[in-house]
Amino acid sequence: MKYLKINQLKKPLSGNIDIAGAKNAALPLLAATILGRNEMTISNLPDVADIKTLLKLLEMLGAQYSLDKNIAKISTIKLDKTTATYDIVKTMRASILVLGPLLARFGHCEVSLPGGCAIGQRPVDLHLKALELMGAHIEIRAGYIYATTDGPLKGAKIVFDKVTVTGTENIVMAAALADGETTIINAAKEPEVVQLCEVLSNSGVVIKGIGTDKLVITGRNRELIDIQNFSIIPDRIEAGTYLCAGAITNSQITINKVIPEHLESILYKLKEMGFGIEKTQSSVTILPAKKIKPINLITTEYPGFPTDMQAQFMALALIANGTSIIDERLFENRFMHVSELLRMGADIHLNGSIATINGGKELFGADVMATDLRASSALVLAGLIASGETNVHRIYHLDRGYEDLEGKLNALGADITRCDESL
Ligand code: EPZ
Repeated sequence: MKYLKINQLKKPLSGNIDIAGAKNAALPLLAATILGRNEMTISNLPDVADIKTLLKLLEMLGAQYSLDKNIAKISTIKLDKTTATYDIVKTMRASILVLGPLLARFGHCEVSLPGGCAIGQRPVDLHLKALELMGAHIEIRAGYIYATTDGPLKGAKIVFDKVTVTGTENIVMAAALADGETTIINAAKEPEVVQLCEVLSNSGVVIKGIGTDKLVITGRNRELIDIQNFSIIPDRIEAGTYLCAGAITNSQITINKVIPEHLESILYKLKEMGFGIEKTQSSVTILPAKKIKPINLITTEYPGFPTDMQAQFMALALIANGTSIIDERLFENRFMHVSELLRMGADIHLNGSIATINGGKELFGADVMATDLRASSALVLAGLIASGETNVHRIYHLDRGYEDLEGKLNALGADITRCDESL
């Protein structure tokens, strides 16, 4: 297994880096190719493990694809299998995104029930309840979801009890091939959901309310879609992570190929902490703060502060002058990075969903363990400023969602080496 060796920065970071395509936009869009009847080209794909996992799943189902780093050509014309097996789904929960499209296209599918993960139980009950409302028969046996429909799925009115990103995406894709109109109330509005709707809409699926919490999709009664080629939107969480790298080292850096509008809540919080922010149409520059103020954060659905940036801001709060409070409202166990930060000398107290961070304590380099994707990046950020050497282990978590993280940070002046545990 590999780990990252991070030496304390000797001077601030500087320079600029390009942000990759959004993993969480690419995953539903790759699943949506199941609805297609043509070969399509997807560009600006991030070169990360999760994308390769989903491409492998699509190939197991009968799709053909070629991948040239960030560009994939995919055809699902010869798709002839409908089973997403445990060994694939256990490595990536987002495989659940093939459930809606497979069921809509074939009338049956067998998808391994995704287990929980480090950050929480991660149920999919809302996905299943919505599909049943659309006429699906759902049975859970031996860890698999067995879904069938007699004829096409039927349009229905769905009200989600909770805002669910992949739940909304699954139902949008299922509704695209259903017979009749589907209304989704309390739909997710994340930019990644918006891009899925825009790509389907540009390909002839009638969708009203894109970008709002009420979506109305006119089904095509199983008529497959000529999906137009598209480019994945920039990854707002990767962008936010590098802005935090600039902030935690009190540096001036610029991130390019971003959509600043998707970063509003993150930029707002960085400014609250005292950092300067300059924007152009496709870039953001962060400027050092005279005095780094503590922060109060509540994670919530878009456009509020994203849960996927919570761990990174907790690392940032370690250098603030004062006490910060973080309330993690979306996931019940998304504080796995805390015990690792404590090993580095952080002063953090947990009480249910509330983390209290007393900033200003000296941080010491240590061996720490990544537990989930975003927690891993928080440990790397802390390692940039901790004295001595920090080794972040189990970085397969990191490689799921960050394209060449150490390469990009080293291009800004960091000193990070990817090492092999066994040596
Ligand atoms: C998506 O996960 C993202 N993943 C997550 O990013 C992100 O943290 C999350 O949305 C919230 O923004 C992808 O898009 C692939 P949810 P998702 O369904 O869709 C509960 C990352 O680091 N819920 O919006 O699985 C659920 O337990 C990952 O890139 C149900 O109760 O999240 C949670 O408390 C981590 N029943 C809340 O809703 C359901 O059927 C929001 O979950 C579905 C969800």
